[in-house]
Amino acid sequence: MTDQLMKRTNKKLRMILAMLMIFVISLPSRRCSSAEVQFIFGDSLSDVGNNNYLTRSLARAALPWYGIDFGNGMPTGRFTNGRTIADIVGDYLGLPRPPAFLDPSLDADMILENGVNYASGGGGILNETSSLFIQRFSFSKQIDLFKGTQEMIRMKIGPEAAHKFFTGARYVVCIGSNDFINNYLLPVYADSWTYTGDSFLNYLITTLESQLRLLHSLGARQITFFGLGPMGCIPLQRILTSTGECQQSTNKLAQGFNKAAIQLFKDLSNTLPNSSFVFGDGYDFFLEIINQPEKYGFSNSDSPCCTIGKIRPTLTCTPLSTLCKDRSKYVFWDEYHPTDKTNELMANQIIKNLGYKPINGTKK
Ligand SMILES: *[C@@H]1O[C@H](CO)[C@@H](O)[C@H](O)[C@H]1NC(C)=O
Ligand SMILES: *[C@@H]1O[C@H](CO)[C@@H](O)[C@H](O)[C@H]1NC(C)=O
Ligand SMILES: *[C@@H]1O[C@H](CO)[C@@H](O)[C@H](O)[C@H]1NC(C)=O
Repeated sequence: MTDQLMKRTNKKLRMILAMLMIFVISLPSRRCSSAEVQFIFGDSLSDVGNNNYLTRSLARAALPWYGIDFGNGMPTGRFTNGRTIADIVGDYLGLPRPPAFLDPSLDADMILENGVNYASGGGGILNETSSLFIQRFSFSKQIDLFKGTQEMIRMKIGPEAAHKFFTGARYVVCIGSNDFINNYLLPVYADSWTYTGDSFLNYLITTLESQLRLLHSLGARQITFFGLGPMGCIPLQRILTSTGECQQSTNKLAQGFNKAAIQLFKDLSNTLPNSSFVFGDGYDFFLEIINQPEKYGFSNSDSPCCTIGKIRPTLTCTPLSTLCKDRSKYVFWDEYHPTDKTNELMANQIIKNLGYKPINGTKK
């Protein structure tokens, strides 16, 4: 080969290589726009950072020691030391973890690739829930934000492709605890004296039904709801009893809610076209963990790992708090929320109960 020929061949090769690189670099985004993603709605059990941007909110996980067992150990906005249940279930399915709605880098491409998480600490089914926290997204507000997301995606890829994208996505809803803990059970809220147990439950379920019907009308088809746990056993509730036992009356409210929601989900699945409303019930399993912690490798199931010594309860874990020696041996992280270890056990149980299998072809 002459020098000139070799130079030309090299030039050609470089051009081909450059073209290949461009092709390879642009490939993932094209492939991912048709991949399955999830949209997550809920409260602090699923928040991945929205409340960190609600700067006046009193329910924030923006400071250490939140996130100490997640990535580099800095706070992520999750109200736990590590992952949420939705993180773990989504990872198992092979779905990307959706970014927080208020994440400043969120744009249409990111949404097409990863979905969105609207969950907000303090959020409830009812708009009035957690008003003491000043700022939070209620479920209705989260659905409003989802409508905005849909508009943005329609502008980006057109109405038909957007319809396909939204009907093909997965929807996760985990909400309801705050409607009891930070509303009905606190006498400062009007709902606590306006309603009796049954009429409050009815009000909650009717509101939830209209919200789920609205989500369906917006294109949501596969909706999974994580039911309530035995919330009378969170450390904050135990400290209110003289014996330190679980508040049985609070647990009864959670059971009543789950029972009514299970029926609602059956009815909706049977009546709304092409819909799959699935209820993930972890109540009994969570109660078993609390009652027999040793069986699951825990040494403590009644007090928070993160606490300011004898001063209890505190609203959140703070940098002034001290941590338990072994975080994997505590069921609860703070006064309200389970540890990463508990979330892992709960997620695995929900995966088993619902017969979930990893989704083929969604992960690179
Ligand atoms: C709840 O708030 C949303 C907006 O965040 C609003 O659209 C809706 O009408 C409110 N619902 C009630 C019952 O006030
Ligand atoms: C239900 O699914 C079928 C088949 O994919 C589709 O033709 C129909 O339009 C869907 N109906 C609704 C209400 O989404
Ligand atoms: C995914 O599904 C396709 C066809 O549906 C199959 O050919 C392929 O082997 C599957 N891949 C994995 C990793 O299961």
